[in-house]
Amino acid sequence: MTQAPVLAIDGPGGAGKGTICQLVAKKLGWHLLDSGALYRLTALAASKHGVALDNEESVAVLAKHLDVQFIPQDEGLVNTILEGEDVSLNIRTEEVGSMASKVAALPAVRQALLERQRDFAQSPGVVADGRDMGTVVFPDAPVKIYLTASAEERAKRRFLQLQEKGVDGDIEAILKDIQERDERDMNREVAPLKPAVDSLVVESTNMSIEQVLDVVMTELKRANLV
Ligand code: DC
Repeated sequence: MTQAPVLAIDGPGGAGKGTICQLVAKKLGWHLLDSGALYRLTALAASKHGVALDNEESVAVLAKHLDVQFIPQDEGLVNTILEGEDVSLNIRTEEVGSMASKVAALPAVRQALLERQRDFAQSPGVVADGRDMGTVVFPDAPVKIYLTASAEERAKRRFLQLQEKGVDGDIEAILKDIQERDERDMNREVAPLKPAVDSLVVESTNMSIEQVLDVVMTELKRANLV
């Protein structure tokens, strides 16, 4: 299906996929697909245009025609421009994350974003971050990782991330949001979050970023991709 090699990393929110994917993409000089950003952008576009998040047909039209640019910055950061507006910060809020999880449950929206995601598989390779990279978008990916951690640990990581940005978070509220999002992402009918049968499950509750990175690099070597 795809020519360029794909490293698919799936897992629940807050498991550290974003950090690991950025590090690996930078290390290898591969493209990075942040598929969650596409669902976040779709949700934001719906809210901008006054489209209800459960209006499947209209949200799918917005998803299909998303006017978005990803502009790489230093340090692996990316500026995200939606319809000419810099939304790099807006799309990262918990509120938009929760809206994204709602539009992501709509089959027509997932279908509308499929080709756009597959287009990221360009030479020399792509690191794909999401929920269904290994199961639906890139079923032939030579390396598939399912990165997870306990909900409590993920809430703690999110809380610390917010603190680093100088934002006061409420850890109980973050945990509740994570549990609700897990529930929705894992139990939806289309492309639910689950490990691909041929994925390596990495339970990272007690692992450092360096340890997870080591596991990923070992898998890439095993597949002769590095
Ligand atoms: O990874 P994230 O937090 O940016 O994702 C936001 C939401 O988008 C998440 O709750 C579920 C949805 N999502 C999805 O359904 N499939 C993907 N491949 C990526 C994200």
